[in-house]
Amino acid sequence: MNPRTTRLLLVLSAFLAGLVLCFAVVLLVTGRGASPLANPTAAIGGPFRLTDQNGNSISDRDLRGRPFLVFFGFTHCPEVCPTALADISQVMDKLGPDAEKMNALFVTVDPERDTPAVLKDYLASFNPRLIGVGGDAEALAAVARGYRVYYKKVPLKDGDYTMDHTAIVYLMDKKGQFVSPFSLRRRPEEAAAELRRYL
Ligand code: NI
Repeated sequence: MNPRTTRLLLVLSAFLAGLVLCFAVVLLVTGRGASPLANPTAAIGGPFRLTDQNGNSISDRDLRGRPFLVFFGFTHCPEVCPTALADISQVMDKLGPDAEKMNALFVTVDPERDTPAVLKDYLASFNPRLIGVGGDAEALAAVARGYRVYYKKVPLKDGDYTMDHTAIVYLMDKKGQFVSPFSLRRRPEEAAAELRRYL
């Protein structure tokens, strides 16, 4: 093959890879890819009924009227979850009194260990407005499906286990509609300024 053909093939395969990636993203965002143009954000989120860290029932309806952040994780997580929760706490601290006009949910994907009491104890280290929520396996599977969250129990050698999980922070608006993934890879002031736009 002459060098020009090789280069052409490289460009073409890069283009095709890009196309496949775009398509995959569209499928991911829209769920099944049915009518992606009609309402691309409708498929993320949806109704749920879970239990908060005080043992009270909490549903999507309780959150109406305020934008909210949602993050899925577990309290035994060594790094990703505590880092994300610390970052979210910082952003909420920057909002000051405005933090009361929004909510932030930490949904445990490990309800076996993360009982309401464990969640409450764990969240004591973070911004007090963070709500820890959990539920039985069925309720959890339903909310994870709604948010397109993947989670899986992974056994460790010592008989213990850890959880693999999607680590996206979701920004939802006052109506509970998905806005976008919420980036924590910026100064907390900037992240807080973005949140203010949805209050
Ligand atoms: Ni984690």
